[in-house]
Amino acid sequence: MCGIVGYIGKRNATPIIIEGIKRLEYRGYDSAGIAIINKDKKISVFKEKGKIIELERALPKPSETAGNIGIAHTRWATHGEPNQANAHPHTSSNNRITLVHNGIIENYKNLKSKLEKSGYTFSSETDSEIFANLIDFFLDKTNSLTEAVRESMKLVEGTYGIAVLSNDSPDQIVAFRKGSPLILGIGDDEFFVCSDVSAIIIHTKKVIYLQDNEIVTIKNNTFEITNVHNENIKAKVSIVDWDVSSIDKGDFPHFMLKEIFEQPTTVKNAFRGRIVEKLSTVRLGGLNMTGEELRKVQKIQIIACGTSWHAALIGKNIIEHLARIPVEVEYASEYRYKNPIIPIETLVFVISQSGETADSLAALREAQARGARVLGITNTIGSTIARESDGGVYIHAGTEIGVASTKAFTSQVTILSLLAVLLGRMKNISPVYGMEFIKELHRIPDKIQRILDKNDEIEKIAETIKDSHNALYLGRGVNFPVALEGALKLKEISYLHAEGYPAAEMKHGPIALIDENMPVISIALKDVIYEKIISNLQEVKARNGRLITIATEGDNVVKSFSENVIYIPETVPILQPLLSVIPMQLLAYHVANLRGLDVDQPRNLAKSVTVE
Ligand code: AGP
Ligand code: GLU
Repeated sequence: MCGIVGYIGKRNATPIIIEGIKRLEYRGYDSAGIAIINKDKKISVFKEKGKIIELERALPKPSETAGNIGIAHTRWATHGEPNQANAHPHTSSNNRITLVHNGIIENYKNLKSKLEKSGYTFSSETDSEIFANLIDFFLDKTNSLTEAVRESMKLVEGTYGIAVLSNDSPDQIVAFRKGSPLILGIGDDEFFVCSDVSAIIIHTKKVIYLQDNEIVTIKNNTFEITNVHNENIKAKVSIVDWDVSSIDKGDFPHFMLKEIFEQPTTVKNAFRGRIVEKLSTVRLGGLNMTGEELRKVQKIQIIACGTSWHAALIGKNIIEHLARIPVEVEYASEYRYKNPIIPIETLVFVISQSGETADSLAALREAQARGARVLGITNTIGSTIARESDGGVYIHAGTEIGVASTKAFTSQVTILSLLAVLLGRMKNISPVYGMEFIKELHRIPDKIQRILDKNDEIEKIAETIKDSHNALYLGRGVNFPVALEGALKLKEISYLHAEGYPAAEMKHGPIALIDENMPVISIALKDVIYEKIISNLQEVKARNGRLITIATEGDNVVKSFSENVIYIPETVPILQPLLSVIPMQLLAYHVANLRGLDVDQPRNLAKSVTVE
């Protein structure tokens, strides 16, 4: 589920595809490899465990890797440990077919035993190798690589994005997908395939997003798209409207830090052009819903994973507060298998930064299959979730490279608050209240900047907890999901164990963990439950817990019992998460960085999780 890049044209493919997979490094991976069709029309495969740099070191001299057709892969292991044998590309045991695969083959055991009975052998523990042997098997029967692919697709269950080469037809690349992204890039007398456009936009911005069950055959300086039923597909060519500077770190040491610092701009971009000042409301044209349809909404379900799920929990608070519409928040991975109840007049939202998360996509399809209208909130234009939903809103945060999501989170929360104003103005709130909320939203970017200005201070606090083994995060109300998000950020990139709790729940169990070694990061902002959370923090202090408190500017109480206080500007309570999450992100970043860890590519994680 990590990276695929392929090239066919007049140039030497090797540097192009290696550079391409390097641009996908941010997605996280454990091994890398390439296959090149060389001047003698033979496929050569090179692969290594570890980083792409190890692969480059292991390559023979350039003349031995030269060729005009090649495919490359970064692997995120699902079947078989990360080692050289399991790294892609994989070659069929007859040596004719070589391919790279993103995704999972679910019925691989069954297919493997059938292929073994037909004499095929296997040299890796991966599910992917089955596809190589299966295509080889059908090549005998069809004499065409594309037809062999088509026949194989009919038998394989699971998700895949695949690029394949054949020694029998060394003038072509065939690529195909089901449930895993795959894109054709169209250059001048050259073509690319990739799983993520950032791999190829330095070469071309003209792309075709392949749909599920589609196959592209590229040869003789042209391409043809067909589907698994052998129908010809007239695909739409899209132009990618962002450039390579958005995937550059600039002066920042890590993408994650750059993305944290982009938030004053990205939050502004999320609401820009969407506010109708004179009516104190919001316009979200992409929802594809009339005012009448929106007024009828009686219930909302929001489905997501990980950080997007935390944004959904905050959205629930804001929507219920402004629009008084009940909101249920669901983990996509649970929703897809649970026989969900979707009452009529329920509007379903799927939130996904990448727009490719397999669980979220499956949940979207399940809700649609039950006749629900499903809207997507995504960052990635043209992603599968964006395409398959019945409408939606782009968050316009720009490419997010850091595996730990930061700017996408605040943009998702911003979009959910716009949605809350839109629905709220139809159902519950006056123009004056609507306008006050909108005015406050306009002030948020500057307030985020004021917190970012405390970066050095937060780094010093990170120094005090970097050697801890555990951390507790506490918040209440709308800040409880921020506690969950703070804990997730710390876990993901610093590998410290961390838990988020509603502050008052602590006394029902987690308080047993508190001692003088336990950092407790708490959000105690001035609002109606301020006094209550102060009591909860006193309980921590009484047990010698080390309190790091995020407090409202001007609060003189919390410093009397906190080891450290991070002051943030005041805002309306339901918008507090847009501010309170910023110190959480910076704290996690600095702890991981001070521990000398790879902040942008934490171990075991992938940027978009396209497997179940
Ligand atoms: C966030 O830091 C994570 N890496 C992860 O939880 C992520 O939010 C989750 O996988 C969902 O991704 P999506 O928004 O692209 O669907
Ligand atoms: N399932 C395959 C493997 O484990 C592909 C993994 C990937 O998507 O990178 O090799």
